[in-house]
Amino acid sequence: MKRFIKNNVSWIGKIDWELRKFHGDEYSTHRGSTYNSYLIEEEKVAVIDTVWAPFAKEYVDHLEKQIDPKKIDYVIANHAEIDHSGALPELMVRIPEKPIYCTANGVKSLKGHYHKDWNFHPVKTGDRLSLGSKELIFIEAPMLHWPDSMFCYLTGDNILFSNDAFGQHYATEYLFNDLVDQAELMAECIKYYANILTPFSELVTKKIQEVLSFNLPVDVICTSHGVIWRDNPVQIVQQYLKWADSYREDQITIVYDTMWNGTRVMAENIAQGIKQADPKVNLKLYNLAKSDRNDVMTEVFKSWAILIGSPTINRGVLTSIAGFLEEMKGLKFRNKKAAAFGCYGWSGESVKMIQGQLEAAGFQVIDDGLRCLWNPDPKSIESCVEYGGKLAGLLK
Ligand code: FEO
Repeated sequence: MKRFIKNNVSWIGKIDWELRKFHGDEYSTHRGSTYNSYLIEEEKVAVIDTVWAPFAKEYVDHLEKQIDPKKIDYVIANHAEIDHSGALPELMVRIPEKPIYCTANGVKSLKGHYHKDWNFHPVKTGDRLSLGSKELIFIEAPMLHWPDSMFCYLTGDNILFSNDAFGQHYATEYLFNDLVDQAELMAECIKYYANILTPFSELVTKKIQEVLSFNLPVDVICTSHGVIWRDNPVQIVQQYLKWADSYREDQITIVYDTMWNGTRVMAENIAQGIKQADPKVNLKLYNLAKSDRNDVMTEVFKSWAILIGSPTINRGVLTSIAGFLEEMKGLKFRNKKAAAFGCYGWSGESVKMIQGQLEAAGFQVIDDGLRCLWNPDPKSIESCVEYGGKLAGLLK
C-alpha cells in the first residue's frame, strides 16, 4: 500500500521504533525515530534520500513492491549522513547507471563513505531538474547540519524536502504533524534543535530568510526524521526563527553531580534562595549522573541562566560534569548567564575550573561562584540560600 503525501508523492521510509541512541551513543531517542524517503512519480521518477544502513535491504525490498527500480530516473541525495544514504549501495546495485543528484560536498561525502564512483550530478542553489510538468529546485544548505546538506523543492505540489531541518527523532505511524500528540512533537523538535542545530543558529536564520526570499509557496514540508508538516507548516519555520535567535525562557537550570551529597545540598539550598527571591522563575534541578544528558541540554537551551556544580576530585571535576561542559563548548549557546558551585575537602579547584569552561563555552559568568568546605554545615547552608538570593538579582 502506498502512503501518499500529496498527488504523486509517497513516503517510502522506515519507522525505527527500537532506536534509543543516535549518532553512536551521543543522542538519546526515547521515542525512536524515522528515516523518511520519498518517491515522486511524475513523467520522470525520482527517489529522495534513503534510510539508515541496517534497514537497507528491507527498504529496497519495500521499494520494489512500489515500483520497478529500473523506472527510477533520478536519485536525490539531500544529505550524505548514513541515516539517509545508508541504503544507497543496496539501491545502486540494482540501478548502477542512474544519476545521483547531490551537492559537490555530497559527492565527496558519499565517495568517502561508500568508495563508489556512482553517476554523480553535483547541483547548486537554483539548479532545476525537470520531472515533466513539475520541477525539482535545489537549495544548498551547508552546515545544516553537514557541509553537504541541501533542500529541494517540488514545484506544482509546493513541497519542500528539508532533510534534517525541521525534523525530530519521533517514531509515529501517523506520518503527519496534525495527527500526533502536539506536546510530544514539540518536545522532540526542541530537543533536536537544542542538541544538533544550536551551533548553526546564525546559518539557520540566514537559510530561512534566503528560502523565504524565493517566494515559493510551501504547502508541505517533508523532513527526513519524524512527521511531515502538512498542517500550517510555517509554524515550525517560525519556531526555528525563534530558537535561532538566542532563545531563552524564564528558566534557571541547576546542573550538578555529587559524591557524598554535599554538592546536592548546595544545589537545593541555592535553588531555595533563588525561589525566595524570584518565585515566578521556572527553576529546574538535575543530578547529571542520574539524568539524560540530551534532555538536560535541552533545559540549558531553554534557560536564561544556568548553575553548574561539582565537588573537587583529583584537582578536577566529576566526569559527568566534565563531559557536559565539553559538549556545551561545541554547542555555542548565546546570551546566557552562568555561575558555578561545589564542595571540596582540601585543594578545591572545581569551581574555578567550571567557570573557565563556562566562559570558553560562551556563557557570561557572573561572579566567582560558591565553594563549601567538606559537607555543608548550617552556616554554609545559609550561605547557599543567600547566594541563591543574590544570584536571582544578578542572573537576569
Ligand atoms: Fe539525519 Fe544529518 O542526518
